[in-house]
Amino acid sequence: MQSFPDFGSGSCFEEQRHEAKGKKKQNPINDLDLENWKSLTDIWTDSLWLIPSRDKSGAHTAEYHGNFVPQIPRQVIQRYTKRGDVVLDAFLGSGTTLIESQRCGRHGIGIELLSEVAHKATARIALEPNRHGIQNHVIIGDSSSPDIKGRIVEALERIGRDLVDLVMLHPPYHDIIKFSDSPDDLSNQATVAAFCEALGRVIENTTEKLRPGRFLIIVIGDKYADSAWIPLGFYVMQEALKREFILKSIVVKDMQGNRAKQNQEQLWRYRALLGGFYVFRHEYVFVLKKKA
Ligand SMILES: C[S@@+](CC[C@H](N)C(=O)[O-])C[C@H]1O[C@@H](n2cnc3c(N)ncnc32)[C@H](O)[C@@H]1O
Repeated sequence: MQSFPDFGSGSCFEEQRHEAKGKKKQNPINDLDLENWKSLTDIWTDSLWLIPSRDKSGAHTAEYHGNFVPQIPRQVIQRYTKRGDVVLDAFLGSGTTLIESQRCGRHGIGIELLSEVAHKATARIALEPNRHGIQNHVIIGDSSSPDIKGRIVEALERIGRDLVDLVMLHPPYHDIIKFSDSPDDLSNQATVAAFCEALGRVIENTTEKLRPGRFLIIVIGDKYADSAWIPLGFYVMQEALKREFILKSIVVKDMQGNRAKQNQEQLWRYRALLGGFYVFRHEYVFVLKKKA
């Protein structure tokens, strides 16, 4: 199995290349220099992501329970956006995506249901140097509510744009981590079906202004309930495929460093031996393209 080196250098590597080689823009959806594609060793193209450690550079922190490693948004921002594009994250949490987009010179719009979490994310994003003079707009609201569409348009207007160039969704994995008591919180949906339905509404609301031909990325893991594996990831993928998306890739990402699992490793091993199942060590990154 291949393991990727940790590139947590505190700056976007695409930017290092630009500085080293001068700007060569040839791809309509990214700034990667395909004339020198052999030098793009820090851009992952395999569907198995084994990430040895979390990037903690710059404003990044592992503090928020349920956040993802910065390497995930960094990879997709570099593959699917260009400098100056607009990235929308509809489950902002601690702001990992917007820290990365700021670092890589992309404007950011983040939506977070919980005001305290949103305020902390705003403060954390502000700690990241803004070398490209880009704008970030954090919306406190429910991504599954139709009202959010107008608020995305307002944020786009402030940036001076009509459309979003990349949508990132890292929702709760249903009720695996409970983020609040709010009934609008996706981690409080009574059933898996209600969760998927709500996520379907999020996809609709947040991709209405996604530029055709551009990408929706969904990061999610599965869950166990009542002695059965619930394939949340595939259910959610289906929600996107019911709409105007085609599937470009399913990436399997390891869950090394998952704190909850680490603390209970032996217990889970025992449960697996007893219960006839395998302990899941992976989550998914679904790469979906909006039909042109
Ligand atoms: C898995 S976390 C995202 C973590 C984020 N990627 C990070 O790195 O910090 C999911 C987030 O979605 C928020 N959330 C839950 N329901 C929501 C909703 N209906 N609208 C917007 N945000 C919601 C939660 O409060 C939580 O912060």
